[in-house]
Amino acid sequence: MSFHYWRNVGRSAKRRFLTLSNSYHGETLGALAVGDVDLYKQIYRPLLMDVITVPSPDCYARAPGESWAQHSRRMFAHMEAALAQHAHEACAVIVEPLVQCAGGMRMYDPVYLTLLREACDRHQVHLIADEIAVGFGRTGSMFACEQAGIRPDFMCLSKGLTGGYLPLSTVMTTDGVYQAFTTSTSSSTPSCTRTASPATRWPAPQRAPVSPFSATTTCSSATGRSPRAWASAPARSRTTRTWRKCASGA
Ligand SMILES: Cc1ncc(COP(=O)(O)O)c(C=O)c1O
Repeated sequence: MSFHYWRNVGRSAKRRFLTLSNSYHGETLGALAVGDVDLYKQIYRPLLMDVITVPSPDCYARAPGESWAQHSRRMFAHMEAALAQHAHEACAVIVEPLVQCAGGMRMYDPVYLTLLREACDRHQVHLIADEIAVGFGRTGSMFACEQAGIRPDFMCLSKGLTGGYLPLSTVMTTDGVYQAFTTSTSSSTPSCTRTASPATRWPAPQRAPVSPFSATTTCSSATGRSPRAWASAPARSRTTRTWRKCASGA
């Protein structure tokens, strides 16, 4: 979606992604490419797109006497340099906010995210927060990004949405990104799915939620019905009842 956005606004040179060493974002080809856990990547490497990998701010590696914030600030210099060098060709930076889970539960200070948000704005590069593992209270706040007081351009959510009862994921984005699709002459809008089924189309503009994020794409369930459809379906099956329970927060 970030790549597509930049094309829609006439910046087609922006086609690369920046990521952190030790990161994990999944194992479909695009997600695997922006991750950095060799165990998963090794065999598929010939198929993966080329990404720019920046050293992780992992605070386990901080110098003796150095605070988490000092270490995270110091490590941000690598990101700043990479952004300065690659902004003209970069769509987005993708991070797991605060905790790199699959990479060994490596953690860093929220100041890194604050600096990253500011630098992404300055360099005109999107910030993607993969909160699939840390969202929904796993780090103490509802979303990890809140601890840095930032709002990403894209937020990926999954597991915590249903607590694992259903395969359900969503990508949230800003009104600015959303508008670049609704006003574009581009022939397609993102409509793919990561959860084994055709996804819902983008909602019509007048029905789009506005704050703090606009729900945009990849809302789907195992059967291809949208969450809205699930919530309003007759309570015939056990799965439907489970969804209703999740949707109502029970
Ligand atoms: C941070 C993060 N991103 C992405 C994924 C991939 O999610 P999925 O397996 O649903 O593709 C995971 C899975 O553990 C994850 O921890």
